[in-house]
Amino acid sequence: MLQSRDWVSLLVLCCCIALSGTSDAWAAPNGKTLFLSCSACHGQAGEGNAALGAPNIAGVDAWYVERQLNNFSSGIRGAGAGDKFGALMRGAVAVLKSDAERNAVATYISSLTKTKSPAAAKADLVNGSTQFNAICSSCHGSHGHGNQALGAPNLVGVDPIYMERQIAAFRSGARGAHKDDKWGAQMRVGAGMLPDSKSVRDVIAYIGTLKP
Ligand code: HEC
Ligand code: HEC
Repeated sequence: MLQSRDWVSLLVLCCCIALSGTSDAWAAPNGKTLFLSCSACHGQAGEGNAALGAPNIAGVDAWYVERQLNNFSSGIRGAGAGDKFGALMRGAVAVLKSDAERNAVATYISSLTKTKSPAAAKADLVNGSTQFNAICSSCHGSHGHGNQALGAPNLVGVDPIYMERQIAAFRSGARGAHKDDKWGAQMRVGAGMLPDSKSVRDVIAYIGTLKP
């Protein structure tokens, strides 16, 4: 005759079998496989595609990639009227169905070898350096390598044309103005401190001289 204690043991055993069954069927998402859909625009090595406005993303820190994927997915980034590049990326991010999938693809992207960006247009590097050290370095670091605690990504190797578009978007509020975008709000402060569009180009050219 089974005692109530035995029934409990039996129940626990059944649950364990049921759970182990599900974990077999639910394989962990594979970042490399998920990246296949991304490579249509960002390239097989994550090198980017200027004609599509898709930046090089190879070797970007996973925490920053993951945040951007979450932001595109929720509409914090890229959902504004007229944001055609954001719209492309919002359509693409919809293939990732869970936090686990976004995490897996972000980890895979961060493992790719960084690719070389096109050179920035010639500009006034003295002014660029002055602006960078007065404004940007406090969050992105004096070598531009980023600071995770401040949510600020590595800027070294970011495509200059993409960077100019992002800084313009932060300045206009097309990026970073959503009420839930606390990191974008930080960057809007930095972008707003650049005095004019000449200084935007100068600071981008200066970032282009920083070493990985
Ligand atoms: C249809 C083309 C397209 C596809 C497919 C695509 N992207 Fe993008 N992606 C873009 C464009 C365009 C941008 C730039 C958006 C902007 O300017 O704000 C972008 C931006 C990004 C960014 C932001 C980079 C940064 O420095 O902030 C990340 C991260 C990213 N994509 C990852 C992915 C991943 C992961 C996938 C696959 C699941 C993917 N993309 C698929 C077009 C695409
Ligand atoms: C107060 C802190 C702060 C300052 C100052 C600041 N940034 Fe940022 N920056 C950030 C944060 C945080 C992000 C990430 C925003 C996000 O997650 O969308 C960011 C993002 C960026 C991006 C987007 C990168 C990408 O891959 O899309 C660029 C470009 C950038 N910053 C350049 C600059 C430049 C140039 C300066 C100086 C003029 C500057 N930042 C000053 C905090 C700052």
